[in-house]
Amino acid sequence: MANSDLSCIKTATIEWRDNAPFCTEFDDFYYRSKQPFSEHGLKETDYLFIQQNNLSSRWQGLDSLPSQNKTFSIGETGFGTGLNFLTACDLWLKTAPRDWRLKFISTEIRPLSADDLQAIYASWSVFSDLSKELLEKYPILTPGVHLIELAQGRIQLILMLGDANQMLSSIAESPDSALALHQKKAIDAWFLDGFTPAKNPELWSDEIFNSIASLSAENTTFATFTCASAVRKGLSNVGFNTQKVSGFSDKRESLKGQFESQPLNTPASVTHWFLDQQPKQSERKTAIVLGAGIAGCTAASALAKRGYRVTVIDRHQTVANEGSGNLQAVVYPKLSKQNDALPRINLTAMTMASRFYKPYWDQGLGSQCGVLLLPDSEKSRTNLEQIAERYAQHKRLVTAVDNSQICHLSGLSLQAQQGLFFPQLGWLPPQAVCQQLLKEQCIPLASADIKKIHRCTDSQQWRLIDESDNAIASADILVLATAYECQQFPQTEFLSVNQLRGQVTHLPQQQAASNLKTVICGKGYIAPITNGLQSCGASYNKGVISKQTRAEDHSANLHMMQNTDPGLAEAIQYSEKDSFDGRANYRGTTNDYLPIVGPVPNAELFKQQYDALRRDATTTVDSLGNYFPNLYIHCGLGSRGLSYAPLTAELLAAEINREISPLERELRLAMHPARFLIRDLKRHKI
Ligand SMILES: Cc1cc2nc3c(=O)[nH]c(=O)nc-3n(C[C@H](O)[C@H](O)[C@H](O)COP(=O)(O)OP(=O)(O)OC[C@H]3O[C@@H](n4cnc5c(N)ncnc54)[C@H](O)[C@@H]3O)c2cc1C
Ligand SMILES: C[S@@+](CC[C@H](N)C(=O)[O-])C[C@H]1O[C@@H](n2cnc3c(N)ncnc32)[C@H](O)[C@@H]1O
Repeated sequence: MANSDLSCIKTATIEWRDNAPFCTEFDDFYYRSKQPFSEHGLKETDYLFIQQNNLSSRWQGLDSLPSQNKTFSIGETGFGTGLNFLTACDLWLKTAPRDWRLKFISTEIRPLSADDLQAIYASWSVFSDLSKELLEKYPILTPGVHLIELAQGRIQLILMLGDANQMLSSIAESPDSALALHQKKAIDAWFLDGFTPAKNPELWSDEIFNSIASLSAENTTFATFTCASAVRKGLSNVGFNTQKVSGFSDKRESLKGQFESQPLNTPASVTHWFLDQQPKQSERKTAIVLGAGIAGCTAASALAKRGYRVTVIDRHQTVANEGSGNLQAVVYPKLSKQNDALPRINLTAMTMASRFYKPYWDQGLGSQCGVLLLPDSEKSRTNLEQIAERYAQHKRLVTAVDNSQICHLSGLSLQAQQGLFFPQLGWLPPQAVCQQLLKEQCIPLASADIKKIHRCTDSQQWRLIDESDNAIASADILVLATAYECQQFPQTEFLSVNQLRGQVTHLPQQQAASNLKTVICGKGYIAPITNGLQSCGASYNKGVISKQTRAEDHSANLHMMQNTDPGLAEAIQYSEKDSFDGRANYRGTTNDYLPIVGPVPNAELFKQQYDALRRDATTTVDSLGNYFPNLYIHCGLGSRGLSYAPLTAELLAAEINREISPLERELRLAMHPARFLIRDLKRHKI
């Protein structure tokens, strides 16, 4: 079964025994049970994992290390109650330099429910602020990766729900262990913390040890509570030295060690078009992000949080003046009964977006009013039913609702008999969000219409040239967040991003459905009224190039809403003679409906390199891809820019900063900028 199948994640069943949580499936304690907790469980974690990995002194010395990506990564095999995580976070905040980030990558196959965690944290007298923040941000327990930022971004938890081996191998750069870390900085310390090997052998398998080794490098350490000979042997077989140390309390021994040898060189079994053959540049940290829409501003913010000196450039004087310039943008849910890349990415992006925008909603920007999906055809009715069934155990994510709930949630007398409600979503004013993103990180915005980009071989920097042939700015790293206009540059001309016009209609108070309390999405969408206006949209006008609003599109938008539900038709009071204000602009869409995020391939060299795929799509080409140095792209966000951008910006920043990626490889490749070239070569299209 695929690790991301929803049915494979069940919450743990716990019992309280001797004042400590006990897992009935594995017949073992999460931590040991002597009173009081702060005298035992806490000290046990500190002794076994923190001290044996020497974290305190390593973290105090971080500033004296040579060039680094200012990220310290811990990998853990069983998240459990989060005790190890919170203990590490607490020490990190006390000892590590402020400009470093802790990246804690943990796997968990039986996550604890939020209620159980709450009960456990209530029994501790420590970490109250951290555990409260973790609980507030604790994800809906869907399989796959959940990115959670704590302590104003000083800590990032990457909680991977699924089997440890599958999850750890899925975040590697390549299935070949020799390339698993390709140009990425390794895990610095491992907390190997399954239940006891006798009761939980799957977590101590040779496969897991191989995955651990493939994400390790020379200075990587590990610590574990068990000294079982199979564990010692397994770890030393994959290249760790192991050392027995005295155990905690009444335990005789525990184990620690350091990685000594490189993982075995395995022959390439796949065509590694997605890995860059050039060594990554040194750590000079200046970046330009071209484009100040939601893609550019989220990317700039994610880079600035990692210590990059970022400048955003846009041809407008202010942020979000093109696709991202609508008054109200909906964080739109797009799920499916299928389990392929598109819905999995949408699920991860959507849950991350709801966490990412929470502080903005809390500040009063837009509203986390929930999004109500209503069927607009027989097919979509079936589709909603299948989604409801698939996500039945995740009520915090989505609930199937009947007519009375629909009326109650929407505040309108609607006739729909069924729908789906996403309580954690809502709408945002993207311009204000973009402004905040830059302001929070003190990122300057410069205005220029860029006509050319080129990399200067002397300075090894990207230079941006305007229409008068003036060099406007230069930086080590360039991120293109120019939506469909990436095609204006020769380096990214090969990307097929379509310019797709859309128009929203602004209903004034008199005509608005002013009682509407939630976003409604059917064929189109309508948001609750704000500042006397209500947005309703949006049209799709293929082949139309004009930013002038058109009466026919207003009419189409309103009909879309009326056709969604007769109750909506009644709530919106207008006549065909009325004229409306609104806004028209363009989306940048892709043919596979997925964003484009990552390094920019050199298309001409790529075609030569992977020419053999034209003759045999299944052949393995034994060479890594050819990419422009330090040139990245973040575009093609289509109709769901608000939902995608927090996730895709984070992926991009992790890639640029050489961090182990926070998303499964399969999903990353589905959004990779070079995917079109490879597909087209295989289909003889180029
Ligand atoms: C009518 C309509 C309704 C929509 N509704 C929603 C919704 O409800 N929810 C949702 O999630 N999404 C919605 N979308 C889609 C969403 O707007 C896009 O996904 C999102 O705005 C894309 O953001 P972006 O940053 O990639 O592009 P943009 O916001 O278009 O930003 C690109 C920026 O690059 C700049 N730029 C380009 N070339 C250059 C150059 N050469 N030099 C300098 N600057 C340059 C542009 O000026 C622009 O500011 C809607 C789109 C439309 C058109
Ligand atoms: C001893 S507990 C971990 C305690 C935890 N580190 C803490 O701080 O509370 C072991 C954890 O490993 C998880 N686990 C067991 N087998 C697993 C597997 N194959 N993949 C991922 N997690 C697994 C269990 O569900 C359990 O939460």
